[in-house]
Amino acid sequence: MAVDLLLGLQWGDEGKGKIVDVFTSKYDIIARFQGGPNAGHTLVFNGRKHVLHTIPSGIFHDNTINLVGNGVVIDPVIFKKELDKLDEQNVDYKTSLCISRKAHIILPTHRLLDAASEASKGKAKIGSTLKGIGPTYMDKTGRNGIRVGDIELSSWKKKYRALADKHEAMIDFYNVDIQYDLKDLEADFFEGIETLKTLKFIDSEEFIHQAQTSGKSVLAEGAQGSLLDIDFGTYPFVTSSNTTAAGACTGLGVAPNKIGDVFGIFKAYTTRVGSGPFPTELFDEAGETMGLVGHEFGATTGRPRRCGWLDLVALKYACQVNGVTQLIMMKGDVLSGFDTLKVCTAYNYKGETITHLPYNIEAENVSPIYTEIKGWSEDLTGMTEASQLPKEFNDYVEFLENELGIPITIVSVGPDRKQTIVRKEK
Ligand code: GDP
Ligand code: IMO
Ligand code: MG
Repeated sequence: MAVDLLLGLQWGDEGKGKIVDVFTSKYDIIARFQGGPNAGHTLVFNGRKHVLHTIPSGIFHDNTINLVGNGVVIDPVIFKKELDKLDEQNVDYKTSLCISRKAHIILPTHRLLDAASEASKGKAKIGSTLKGIGPTYMDKTGRNGIRVGDIELSSWKKKYRALADKHEAMIDFYNVDIQYDLKDLEADFFEGIETLKTLKFIDSEEFIHQAQTSGKSVLAEGAQGSLLDIDFGTYPFVTSSNTTAAGACTGLGVAPNKIGDVFGIFKAYTTRVGSGPFPTELFDEAGETMGLVGHEFGATTGRPRRCGWLDLVALKYACQVNGVTQLIMMKGDVLSGFDTLKVCTAYNYKGETITHLPYNIEAENVSPIYTEIKGWSEDLTGMTEASQLPKEFNDYVEFLENELGIPITIVSVGPDRKQTIVRKEK
């Protein structure tokens, strides 16, 4: 069977965790393929909120395998904390959670390097979550990294020491004021490693291959969003992995011709956390309302998210790069009460009107051109069926569908699992 993908189409936090959880009952395997604990995926059910960082969002369902793929980077300290939370809730993950031997490990010094690098950049900082993501992927591509499979070997601690020593020299090189006690950090790290070792390590590309050939269904869960992709995002204000569809091929070992549906997920407006260009960003009451009503605070860092209107130029680009086959629109409920909604349908790029995403989207090069659409006043959060959705809401959704040429099959009207409405079958 083909592997389906679920990917964020904006700057992350689109609601991937919620929808993966909703979809999980239809799949045998849920697999994360990139990113690491920079992600914060929120699930809400039975009146309780759960935030996952590295563990796939299918973990609360019995009978589903949750795989952390080779493209993911794992911080054993954060991973252990996630497992502790699952233990508190009696979630049995011992048999259902598997980790690729080829996934890379985030060392305490990777986190310190992240902090040193950001501090050295001053105002030009990326706004990283400071989870050590960039330095870990740098060591991966630099062929210096430590992988999950290494910790099964007795010699790995020697390799660890050499790499940590090198990192300390690099931290000194940055010449910024970073205070740390490596002994303390290492105590937590090695405790996390021991916990990690109690889990099932697998050769995940073989596992996925066997699953596919024996008819098992797989959903690959993206982290971050397409505009944070290392190649196609708003570089350098991006993360350090391929968050787009191609990342699922390399991050799991799935061949491109074995990809099935690509579910592209987006908010009815736009948010961004961290630095970097954001053409439709709002600095007025409208943006404030989105932030307040939408509780737009980072699930990993708690930082307020920047808010703005929906940007169809960027969304179209993301659909194109990912080969999106179905769209899912989140947080429509947050826009209830706006008399008029704006959607960016083109950019004024150095005096010229364009409809594609150019190389430079900084404010000095790009200003958004908006189409105005009548808003709706009804509260959507109690609605459960498509027939209840107000006309103006449907008009908004249909406008987007026509512009993008891809069906919006699901709309989400609240954080809970149950606040999910199927508009149409594909
Ligand atoms: P992810 O990183 O893509 O999984 O998204 P996050 O969990 O970081 O951020 C999405 C936030 O929006 C979370 O707080 C969710 O509980 C919440 N959420 C998801 N869908 C909806 C929705 O349709 N309406 C509202 N109001 N909140 C939602
Ligand atoms: P989920 O999976 C939103 C952003 C950071 C920063 C940039 C680089 O929850 O959607 P990094 O820590 O990777 O070095 O940060 O990317 N970022 C995210 N923004 N959601 C995320 O994940 C993010 N992961 C990283 O804010 O701007
Ligand atoms: Mg998030």
